[in-house]
Parts: sequence; structure tokens; C-alpha cells
Amino acid sequence: MKKIFAANWKLNKTPDQATAFAQDFLAKTSGNFFENKEAFIFPQNFSLDAVSRGFKSSKVQFGPQQIHTETKGAFTGENSLDLAKSLGSQICLIGHSERRQFFAEANPLINKKVLLCQSTDVLPVLCIGESLEQRQKNETLKVCFEQLETALAGVDTAKRIVVAYEPVWAIGTGQVATLDQVKEVHAELYKKMTSLNFKNFQLLYGGSVKADNAKDLISIAHVDGFLIGGASLEVASFLDICNCL
Ligand code: PGA
Repeated sequence: MKKIFAANWKLNKTPDQATAFAQDFLAKTSGNFFENKEAFIFPQNFSLDAVSRGFKSSKVQFGPQQIHTETKGAFTGENSLDLAKSLGSQICLIGHSERRQFFAEANPLINKKVLLCQSTDVLPVLCIGESLEQRQKNETLKVCFEQLETALAGVDTAKRIVVAYEPVWAIGTGQVATLDQVKEVHAELYKKMTSLNFKNFQLLYGGSVKADNAKDLISIAHVDGFLIGGASLEVASFLDICNCL
């Protein structure tokens, strides 16, 4: 199975910077790159068109960082999955912890977004993960399972889905989870997804992934790739991580 390297650019990069990234990335990768890897890019929406043009005819997949549950209508300021698709989006990030934390996105809403993606054949990349407080209270697995079960209610288990485990305390902090912590959670998530009858899923790890920890993390069982924030903003640091394989 190919490993997934997913870049979450968050609220960064102008269209020009996105175009420059695409040119540089494609100049530095060959067809071999995609033999054992998939590359996903989640740009800010204003740069989605630039990413779409920049990666046209390449194997790089891209999509929005968040969408509304309705695809059109009187929803001022919202993002439409249909419009993202019209720009060539094949993937969509859903339920990132920053959406949960700063924009009050809860599991039932996240569930609607996963269902919407599936209904239009866009691959959902669902983010889950515990806060520091929850980890300290030994609630990591309980929280992750709850997030999974609610967000995946009614989802077609035969369709492909990607789940990104991102401990909230490891995101953007430089404090990566230990190998044992990642190993434990990924093993349990794998069992959970299997028990929920999912047949085609990949589990990503996210949270302060860098070139110097990527090699160890990618060798853990059921770590099928990474969701990368800060280190995905530069082609060099993103490729350094991708080259851990
Ligand atoms: P980080 O972000 O790599 O900067 O920790 C990861 C994410 O938020 O997806």
C-alpha cells in the first residue's frame, strides 16, 4: 500500500506562493516518487485554484481544508464542496482539531461532512485526536473512539477513507508523540476501524512531523503516512519527510 504524505498549509500561502511550490515540487520529483507514495495538498481556499493549475496532469491530489455541509445556497462565507470539485479537488480535510477548537465543529457536524464527501466521491481525510488534558486523564482511546464512531455513523464502509490521528498537544508544538504512544493508538485505531467493518482505510499520524522523526514514525505498524503542517510549507522540508521511505 502506498504511504500518504499530506500537506496542511492552514492559513498560509498566497496563490503565487502556491504556484511556486507546485513548480518547485514537480521539478524535484519524478514518476518514481509516486510508485510508493501519494502526495496530498490542502491549501487555503483562495489558493486552491493556483494549486489546481500548478498540479494539473500530475499525480498530486489536492482539496479544501474544510467545507460546509451544503454545497450551495444562502450560506455567506462558507465553502462549497461542489466548487472545490469543479477546481479538480479529489480529497477534503475534515474535523481538523483547529476547526473543532476555534470554530466549534462537533462530531455530528463532522459526520455530515464525511457523508457529503462520500456521496460525491471525494476522499475524506478525517482528523481525530485527544487534548493534553484528556491524555493526562487516560482518556485518549475513549476520545478517539468516540470521535471515530460519531463521525463515521452511516458511512459506507466499502468506500475508501483516511483517518489522521493528531494528538492536539503535538500539533505545532514541536512535541511529537513518542513512538510507543503512536504505536499504541494506531494499533487500537486499526482494530477499531476493522471492527467497524471498514475495508479500505489508511491511518495517518500528525503532530510536529519533521524529517528527523519521520523515519522512525513511518516504520510503526499501521502508520500509513503523515499529515504535516509547519514542515509542509517549504518544498525542501516536505520532500525531506517524503524521502523517509
Ligand atoms: P504540525 O501540524 O505538523 O505543524 O504540527 C499538523 C496539523 O495540524 O495537521
